[in-house]
Amino acid sequence: MAKLKSKWVCQNCGYETAKSLGKCPECEKWGTFVEETQEIQPTSKSLPIDDIAPCLIDDIEVDHSIRVSTGIEEFDRVLGGGLVQGSLILLAGDPGIGKSTILLQTSNYVSANGRKILYVSAEESASQIKLRAQRLNVKSDKLFIYSQTNFDSIKMRIDELKPDMLVIDSIQAVYSANISSSPGSVSQIRECTNILMDIAKNKNITVVVIGHVTKEGNIAGPKVLEHMVDTVIYFEGDRYKSYRLLRCMKNRFGTTNEVGVFNMCDDGLHEISNPSEMFLNERTKNVTPGSVVIATNEGTRPLLIEIQALVGTTSYPSPRRVSNGIDYNRLLQILAVLEKRIGLNLSKQDVYVNVIGGLQIDEPAADLGVALAVATCARDVIVSPDTVIVGEIGLSGEIRTVNNIDKRIKEAAKLGFKKIIVPKLNKSDCNEEIEVVQCARLLDAISACVYKEKQPV
Ligand code: TYD
Ligand code: MG
Repeated sequence: MAKLKSKWVCQNCGYETAKSLGKCPECEKWGTFVEETQEIQPTSKSLPIDDIAPCLIDDIEVDHSIRVSTGIEEFDRVLGGGLVQGSLILLAGDPGIGKSTILLQTSNYVSANGRKILYVSAEESASQIKLRAQRLNVKSDKLFIYSQTNFDSIKMRIDELKPDMLVIDSIQAVYSANISSSPGSVSQIRECTNILMDIAKNKNITVVVIGHVTKEGNIAGPKVLEHMVDTVIYFEGDRYKSYRLLRCMKNRFGTTNEVGVFNMCDDGLHEISNPSEMFLNERTKNVTPGSVVIATNEGTRPLLIEIQALVGTTSYPSPRRVSNGIDYNRLLQILAVLEKRIGLNLSKQDVYVNVIGGLQIDEPAADLGVALAVATCARDVIVSPDTVIVGEIGLSGEIRTVNNIDKRIKEAAKLGFKKIIVPKLNKSDCNEEIEVVQCARLLDAISACVYKEKQPV
């Protein structure tokens, strides 16, 4: 007879205790414990031993994993060259961002190349999927849709169908009958992911799991999900814009931080091979004070993005600082350097900084662009519209080196910019048709690209 074991599990971090606690000792959240019971199957005392003796690293043969193209070049690039056979991939994103859409499009392509796919839809009925499939023009005799939430049934169908690829849409909606807690709870997610890992490794099936993201930006359920899978990909975007970003956060089979850019249209997702062009196409020829173009790095790809700043006399007791798309503390640091090193007095000025397109820029190479946007707006002058700015700013006002400078210069030249401001110590062997101006300090950069007079608007 199977025994029932009761435990209390924190729904935020997965911490387990024998009795309920008010505050979780692990993540320090209050009121997150829920009682869960689990059926413990009696196990035989003599466990099978499949022990492999330790061996020298030189003697290990490299297993060249088979990769299968998703049919979407941008998706392949984010995955590091395609789907690895037998791997477990998590695709996470906000509800309604397009996760089911991209996986249905991928399933269509992969199945068209002779592979059998089982698409388990735990959230939508088969006819709902069919409606979407018609919109996406999906036609395949190797793509099976299965609307089911019970994991035991799903497992049975996998054994029956023996697919090459399995899609679970979504992990929060499926449940295993062995665990009493509701679908989406920590225990359920952990149990189901464990089984999926086992299926991926032992049956050599590529498993793609969809995970929803909570309001705080975490994958609903525990962090353990991210630890367990081989690859974590986030699907992000602005709800009010049609572009979407696919970003790799963890990859056991390739590099991370790769980004793919898509456009959500009526007939599904279309890849955008030149995202810089898209992000700059709303920029007007007659630039206004406070607008600059920077070359940032998204993964291994350079991206040209416009940053805008607005500086004006405050009507508040303490001036406002608002940053959209760059770190707030980073903005405060840049403003402090501007005040101290070039004497820009902002103590009675509100400062708003916005990265166009709703993008989030994490790298310090955007510092110089932000500084110039703020400084030009404050002084009512402009940065010449054919100039791109790259550089990190140190606290003494020096411009520090950035990585991948050649790629950034090439991208700027490709998009027809005439000049790029780079850090003095960055060596570049580029022979592109663009003037590369090396600047050591903030003041040098200002004199290299700032017009004294405002252009007629
Ligand atoms: P969906 O893939 O269902 O999102 P998720 O699985 O992440 O919850 O996509 C839902 C949104 O995408 C929906 O609001 C409609 C839009 N959409 C399009 O704009 N074009 C399309 O071709 C499809 C299928 C969906
Ligand atoms: Mg969906």
